[in-house]
Amino acid sequence: NIVILDCGSQFTQLIARRIRELKVHSEILPWDVSADEIAKRSPKGLIISGGPRSVLEEGAPRIDESVIQMDLPVLGLCYGMQYLCKAMGGQVRSSTSREYGRAYITVIDDGSPIYRDVPAKNQVWMSHGDDVESLPEGTIMTSRTDDGVIAGFRSEDGRVNGFQYHPEVAHTEYGETMLSNFLFHVCRCAGDWDLGDWVENAVEEIRETVGQDKVICGLSGGVDSSVAAALVSKAIGDRLQCIFVDTGMMRDKEAEEVMESYRAMDLNVIHVDASERFLKALEGVTEPEKKRKVIGELFVRVFEAESSKVSDAKWLLQGTLYPDVIESGHKGKGAAVIKSHHNVGGLPDDMSLKVLEPLRDLFKDEVRALGRIIDVPEDIVSRHPFPGPGLAVRCLGDITVEKLDILRKADRIYLDEIRKAGLYNDIWQAFAVLLPVYTVGVMGDDRTYARVLALRAITSSDGMTAEWFRFPNEVLDRISTRICNEVQGVNRVVYDVTSKPPATVEWE
Ligand code: XMP
Repeated sequence: NIVILDCGSQFTQLIARRIRELKVHSEILPWDVSADEIAKRSPKGLIISGGPRSVLEEGAPRIDESVIQMDLPVLGLCYGMQYLCKAMGGQVRSSTSREYGRAYITVIDDGSPIYRDVPAKNQVWMSHGDDVESLPEGTIMTSRTDDGVIAGFRSEDGRVNGFQYHPEVAHTEYGETMLSNFLFHVCRCAGDWDLGDWVENAVEEIRETVGQDKVICGLSGGVDSSVAAALVSKAIGDRLQCIFVDTGMMRDKEAEEVMESYRAMDLNVIHVDASERFLKALEGVTEPEKKRKVIGELFVRVFEAESSKVSDAKWLLQGTLYPDVIESGHKGKGAAVIKSHHNVGGLPDDMSLKVLEPLRDLFKDEVRALGRIIDVPEDIVSRHPFPGPGLAVRCLGDITVEKLDILRKADRIYLDEIRKAGLYNDIWQAFAVLLPVYTVGVMGDDRTYARVLALRAITSSDGMTAEWFRFPNEVLDRISTRICNEVQGVNRVVYDVTSKPPATVEWE
């Protein structure tokens, strides 16, 4: 077990993830925990994360000195390294320029294990305003940048180590090797932990937290809410009551398919078919933000009405993942609202339920792996993300039954062909968009005047940035031919070749 002390870095969770990938268990604790609390966990080592503050500032995180004196291997990253240096008697200065992005370091080979199997010159990811001016006594520099800044240090006995850069970030070429050196050659971890253990721990923790209470959960058919529900149901069985609100804005036959999977998973689910109400509420609404607002508000009303029927529920389960946590952490700092995302999790604060978020430390691919371990059906585990407002934001302009019908047929063909070509799992998201545009075409000897359908497919690792997907031409060709032949009302198909940024993933 490794304890990570969080000093507020955006990357703290990423450190934990990298450690999980190396099959070592880790736990994140706030920077101000006591040495006793840490000792209780009998860790094999300690990592001090980076953070947004400067060690020179009043009020910056100050870790209890006795923590550093514990007889434990320690690795300080960025802020963590500066903190260690300062606490051990070195000098930290505020640099004249902030260093942010790629940099190159030169490793000083002194035979210490921390840089084992790392080439003398390699690329790292820096993000700092301060740097270490002079090292504490009894410590040595282990690497430096091209500008002579101290990039790494260690104590003579090798117990205390620090990196000025971020080994947890993918841009640090040998970051994984460096972390694994710390875990296996400095801390002497065994490396036999796996996600199965995470499940056992999580189930235990959910049981402890929830006690005998009831939990309610909004299911969307997506990976996150489904895996969260499967996990909690493993812990507390029928005391989890799920509610699936069918907004009528799902893909062709998706609501039925999803309900079938939930039954197979033995989840306790109420299916609320509210499609008529949603259609009615959306009548004549064309503005994207208005659509989201209408759907979000109605969703909350329907969900509240349904959940109030569940007597004495105390908890609301949400499938929040770590990237959602980071994103919401950024909100309120003057960030512009690009889209007001609506989630099935986006429920009002005044529901007087406590929130349960068992997946908040995980990334999407970990949630998928977890889903597979706890037997969530593959069609849910590998399903592409789908926005809460569903087809309403893929049917541009006003929403009618006729347009939804056209969109569903075309979208089905598109996804069927993607699956047939074996490309579904190479793509993060693929969907059709029905445009409010008519163009002229020719079918047989006749002129047609019909709608344009746009296809979008992207690759991404978290939906925050995305690349448009390069289809083989023949696949696009098959899709376009089938859609024009089989979907009445469409005579032209176009493919979206815009990445994010500048475009967003959804068209509205
Ligand atoms: P955008 O369009 O903002 O999408 O680039 C990024 C990711 O978020 C999904 N998305 C949503 N998800 N509620 C959701 O739950 C929403 O309102 C919503 N809008 C977009 C989108 O499908 C992509 O995966």
